[in-house]
Amino acid sequence: MEQYLAFQWHITDSCDQRCQHCYIFSEDNDIPIIEMSYEKMEHVLENCMDMCKKLNRIPYFYITGGDPILHKDFWTFMEMLKFHNVSFGLLGNPFHLNDEICKKLRYYGCDKYQLSIDGMRNNHDSIRKPGSFDTTIEKIKCIRNEGIKCVVMTTVSKINIAEIPQIIDLVAHHHVDIFAFARYCPTSLEKSTHIESNEYKELLEICWEKFKEYKDSGTTFNLKDHLWTLFLYEKGLFTIPEGLDDNKIYDGCNCANCHMTILPNGDVYACRRMESLIGNAFSESMQDIFLGEKMDKYRQYDKFEKCSKCELLRFCRGCPAVAYGYTHNAYAADPQCWKEI
Ligand SMILES: C[S@@+](CC[C@H](N)C(=O)[O-])C[C@H]1O[C@@H](n2cnc3c(N)ncnc32)[C@H](O)[C@@H]1O
Ligand code: SF4
Ligand code: SF4
Repeated sequence: MEQYLAFQWHITDSCDQRCQHCYIFSEDNDIPIIEMSYEKMEHVLENCMDMCKKLNRIPYFYITGGDPILHKDFWTFMEMLKFHNVSFGLLGNPFHLNDEICKKLRYYGCDKYQLSIDGMRNNHDSIRKPGSFDTTIEKIKCIRNEGIKCVVMTTVSKINIAEIPQIIDLVAHHHVDIFAFARYCPTSLEKSTHIESNEYKELLEICWEKFKEYKDSGTTFNLKDHLWTLFLYEKGLFTIPEGLDDNKIYDGCNCANCHMTILPNGDVYACRRMESLIGNAFSESMQDIFLGEKMDKYRQYDKFEKCSKCELLRFCRGCPAVAYGYTHNAYAADPQCWKEI
């Protein structure tokens, strides 16, 4: 079976918000805004498609920013994607959406639009900006009415962990199609956002009960964090299949398996949530980058300090970007993994 390859493609840094936790702006809110030119976008798209053709992978693009819609050539770029019949979703902000824009996005082939909710009103607005919460809620309907799936993502840290259950009620109530959360990756080794491993396990326990409560709500709860595998394993809801190939990776962290990130300046990262530069999409072939030595660093599973000793290695590996955020070492133990080894 052909495997997917997901490209997280940041076409611009331009954004109406300066969120406290953002990996683009956290060190400096006034960094120069970089935007990929139309010509370079054409080149990058060809580069990615060429790679997928040669490696027999199905491409999927997560077009993002900043807010991708703020790119000056956004609509001609949409035409380019439609012309090449590209499968894609957008990860963006709510501020520039309306019925007409959503209709156009659907026409050009956008199948998912991901919004962020990082807390209930006060918390979300203090992390993002005043009024952001209400605008986000308002646009869920607008996205769904045009047949685009609405995804909501929450970035969990100490600052909002207590509100995750309320966010689950909120997304189910507003008929969000897909909900997921991922953990905050510290950008400068800061510890004030730290969640203890047992506290995180308790969160998964509470969320699991909520997901059961809302199983018929129409919202799909995506178990995006790989520590869900540990959670399900301990509950007996995931068992390691027999007769596996010891050299194969079956699930868990996508890094170096089926995911690459491209920044507006062409830099390619193994994962945007950690410093993981592996090449440049303007000057190198994406295939060479994907198969190259720098990407190999993220496939050396025997070097994972804790996971290499764990029976779930081929299915989990926690989040190397969270580990990197705490230690500047992607092989370090995931700080929220509660498994004793
Ligand atoms: C960079 S934003 C781009 C799309 C849009 N502007 C938004 O905020 O949803 C994509 C996602 O990355 C998350 N993100 C930003 N900085 C992060 C960090 N340091 N750790 C984990 N997630 C982060 C955001 O919260 C958002 O869910
Ligand atoms: S809206 Fe998205 S891109 Fe903009 S600052 Fe917030 S997390 Fe970063
Ligand atoms: S040790 Fe690694 S592979 Fe094992 S459960 Fe923890 S994060 Fe997952």
